[in-house]
Amino acid sequence: MTRPRLLITRRIYPEALEALAGHFDITDNQANDTPTTKEGLMAAIGQADYLFCTVADKVDGDVIAAAPSLRMIATGAVGFNNIDAQACKARGIALSNTPDVLTETTADFGWALLMATARRVSESERYVRQGQWKGWAFDQFTGVDVHGATLGILGMGRIGGAIARRAAGFNMRVVYHNRSKAQQEYGAQYVDKQTLLAESDHLIIVVPYSQATHHLITAADLAQMKPSACLVNIARGGVVNDADLLNALQRGQIRAAGLDVFENEPALHAGFLALDNAVLTPHIASSSRATRGRMVMLAAENLLAHVQGRPLKTPVAL
Ligand code: DGY
Repeated sequence: MTRPRLLITRRIYPEALEALAGHFDITDNQANDTPTTKEGLMAAIGQADYLFCTVADKVDGDVIAAAPSLRMIATGAVGFNNIDAQACKARGIALSNTPDVLTETTADFGWALLMATARRVSESERYVRQGQWKGWAFDQFTGVDVHGATLGILGMGRIGGAIARRAAGFNMRVVYHNRSKAQQEYGAQYVDKQTLLAESDHLIIVVPYSQATHHLITAADLAQMKPSACLVNIARGGVVNDADLLNALQRGQIRAAGLDVFENEPALHAGFLALDNAVLTPHIASSSRATRGRMVMLAAENLLAHVQGRPLKTPVAL
């Protein structure tokens, strides 16, 4: 009996590969784990019935059109803005993502970036490594306090909630803004966007990317923030206008930024690299071994469910 053909775009964990192996005829990237290009994906996907992709694969309408047999896409991520969901819907292609399993790990990292940004961890570490530290001084790398400050959360979803919950231990006031006003959660107070920007000492951005959230933060928004404010983006590149943010950081309009995502990642505005008041990380907010393992396994379980005619564990509603 011929098995359905599964294309896996990137190296995945052995436990997931093992679970899939008996059910699919697999083409993968295990040996040579390189980022895909659109052309490469279009060339590879032609015969596939199933696709296991990542947040970094751009599965647009052309790619989907190049896969006439495609029945399902499982992405190993909660965000699926890199996939043309409308094209999936039009073709009856099922889509799954990996919500929940990464919530706590991603919230941890939001805090890691916040702390590193507010307390100048990367900058001072570079100073030590470069052999520049000649002795202690009162005004060395003075940062801004996190405890007792006002934390703003743009996007009070699962991850936003997990971030808010952690703020209690820091005795913070938490304000948040959502497109749809959610309930008061974790002691956080709903405010309009303008108030969020004006009152946050630390602003964490966690909204999913969509046309509606494209450039949700631009120069005009940054101008409303406190000059002492720190901005952290663990959402998606494109939610913040990176050129505007770079400009604001260069001019000291806001104090600092912690950025895990960028508009054209892995490329980024070269200006960011020269800034000491920017902490830059390579889209790793969900990257603990345990959580990445759970994401990969959940994607695999969704594929297995589909091929066995069971409901998907975490379908994307199309
Ligand atoms: C996601 O799951 O959307 C993350 O950005 C990838 O780790």
